[in-house]
Amino acid sequence: MRRKLIVVSNRGPVRVARDGSVHRSSGGLATALRSLLQHQDVTWIASATTEGERALAGETLQQENYRLRLVAHDAQAYDWYYNVVANPMLWFVQHSLWELAYTPKVDAAFHRAWRDGYAAVNEGFARVVLAELEHEPEAAVFFHDYHLYLAPKLVRQGCPDSTLMHFVHVPWPQPDCWRVLPRAMRCAIHEGLIANDVIGFHTERWRSNFLYSTRELLGEDVTQKTVTAPISVNPAEFAELAQSDPVLAAEREIVGKRPEKLVVRVDRTDPSKNIVRGFRAFELYLDAHPEMHRRVRMLALLDPSRQDIPEYAEYLGAIERESRRVNDRFQQDDWTPIELRIEDDFPRSVAAYKQFDVLLVNAIFDGMNLVAKEAPLVNARDGVVVLSENTGAHAELGEWALTVNPFDVEGQGEAIHQALTMDAGERQRRLEAIRTHVRTHDVNEWLDLQLAALNRVATTARR
Ligand code: F6P
Repeated sequence: MRRKLIVVSNRGPVRVARDGSVHRSSGGLATALRSLLQHQDVTWIASATTEGERALAGETLQQENYRLRLVAHDAQAYDWYYNVVANPMLWFVQHSLWELAYTPKVDAAFHRAWRDGYAAVNEGFARVVLAELEHEPEAAVFFHDYHLYLAPKLVRQGCPDSTLMHFVHVPWPQPDCWRVLPRAMRCAIHEGLIANDVIGFHTERWRSNFLYSTRELLGEDVTQKTVTAPISVNPAEFAELAQSDPVLAAEREIVGKRPEKLVVRVDRTDPSKNIVRGFRAFELYLDAHPEMHRRVRMLALLDPSRQDIPEYAEYLGAIERESRRVNDRFQQDDWTPIELRIEDDFPRSVAAYKQFDVLLVNAIFDGMNLVAKEAPLVNARDGVVVLSENTGAHAELGEWALTVNPFDVEGQGEAIHQALTMDAGERQRRLEAIRTHVRTHDVNEWLDLQLAALNRVATTARR
């Protein structure tokens, strides 16, 4: 059934540049939601983040198969919302990244950023959603992620009969992790979310943590409202991409200079991705296996992310320092053990997906991690996935990957060795099993699970 949906997310499906040209947004959320546009009647509400977008805010922009409404927030409010509260505070709480003896500081500046930034931007989003619901009262609202925890309650207050759904793309931690935030803030987050009719998580682990923290903090049991729906990818899109000219050109370059074995990682430069420990693990592997010097390289393709936030800028510095340190130790003539590229180059990432012998995904915590699903689909070398036990993807793919603890660099080094010495039949069996799983549990299944939950709500409301 084609239904009317109002999708609300901070980042929209496209980015409008200063010159008016339109580009596809990268990132798992935007990519996954694009599949929704093919089958549903969608109005998408997102933040205006560039000069070009701010100029278009307020209008409804008719795109090929959906309508786009961009919300221009006050620049200072947006900075507090995105750069102080959502990332890093909420992101760090949800990925357990704070070093609690030192950080974070919940000082007057943070209280102001919460009130005049996070709450104000959420109010801005809620106003636009309510205006949209006046035109389309039968549309269901589909909120996304940690940027928008307060908006659903505001929409519920303004339009009590509305149908609201929220998908949380990041891990949900244990209740005590939320105690980093003062009571009023952590309760507002939980109250905002439970104003939805349906709340979705990638895994049972994140869903049960949410139920636990809602019981702890609010004394509420919202089991009936929650759904587990692991996000996925569109396999046909990757099959096509793998044969596209830009990917084939990037692949020729990789093949032209690759050594015998390639360990690949593809990530945003985010502290949750655990890139520095990944380099340390590779160093330990090289220490233990001098016979592999000159025969193996780690190719790290990293998309620079959230660089206006000091914690992220510092982490990027740490990534560069650590790779240089390892390279300085082992470099010989024309062999550099780590090739580090800090750029947003999706075709090169897909080319690297085709060429990996080992894919390293060692995230500290990760809601899902789509790289672990995308790369095996197009890999041409019976590559092995080394996968952190703290990724959502591990709940689905763990049995066919080599499981690592993200803090155990020794174990990660050993896993690289195990992957590189695994016999061909075993590698092929594991890779094929991952592919079959991803093909049969694709992004449409993710959407169907949530729409089915929404239909259940609608049916109950009619009774
Ligand atoms: O993991 C959550 C998420 O929203 C992803 O869906 C997306 O890839 C990433 O964060 C993007 O973050 P940002 O919008 O800050 O670049």
